[in-house]
Amino acid sequence: MQTITYLILVPMVYLAYLIFVLGIISRMVKIWRAPVQPTTLQIFPEKKPKWLWALHDSFLLPTVRKHNPVLWFFLMIFHIALLLLIIGHLELFKGFTFFQFWEHEIFLGKGFVGLTMIIALLYLLFRRFASPTRQISIPEDYYLLILIFLTVLFGSQMDWARRWYGYAELSPSDYQTYLTSLLFFRPELPSAVYQTGHSFMLVLHVFFANLFIMFFPFSKIMHSFFSIPMNRLRRG
Ligand code: HEM
Repeated sequence: MQTITYLILVPMVYLAYLIFVLGIISRMVKIWRAPVQPTTLQIFPEKKPKWLWALHDSFLLPTVRKHNPVLWFFLMIFHIALLLLIIGHLELFKGFTFFQFWEHEIFLGKGFVGLTMIIALLYLLFRRFASPTRQISIPEDYYLLILIFLTVLFGSQMDWARRWYGYAELSPSDYQTYLTSLLFFRPELPSAVYQTGHSFMLVLHVFFANLFIMFFPFSKIMHSFFSIPMNRLRRG
């Protein structure tokens, strides 16, 4: 079991990030080299400054808000939680104190960031079981949402176990030791990882996160890289 824990928490993380970086580069090169096609983009009214409107369209999703306010609500809370999640993970590196200008505990959000994401993900998944979204969904849509759901569920479980159910054997400072050691290529797993039973949540969280990171460049989530430039083009 110790070997599996090590393989998932160390070499698989490096492999996942390697595939992520190479995958993104290869997707970008393919798009760059693709023959120019006549545009099928729906053009929005031109407004200046164009970049600011592109940001507005990308982050506030006005078209979705107009046509489907419920979907818009869940997309907004999902993306806000995602932003907080990125900050939360950055703070799991020792010495990363940039966001401490507003004082808060690590992991930030007291367990509610993960809870919010879980609720939003359940909505996004179940809407694909009903018409008309079901008819336009493909298997990848379900796999992707289920994979993100499992990653978020086990990440949140770690936080809830510690904060809400008193399992304090694995602490944020253990996570900081682990993640900072990975960053500097001197991998070190704190002894608590091998000694406490509930580290299975960490192993499952990182396992599903690794699969997600490897899958990312080849999935629909690549839209996150293209949405701002596409919206900029739409604004003429
Ligand atoms: C290799 C990559 C990753 C590692 C090593 C990692 C590690 C961690 C650790 C150590 C925690 C802290 C748990 C606690 O406070 O007890 C955490 C929390 C969390 N992670 Fe990750 N994570 C990774 C990627 C991801 C990804 C890709 C997602 C989502 C798509 C994610 C979602 C979450 C969530 C939802 C939480 C809990 C947030 C909350 O406290 O409300 N993680 N992660």
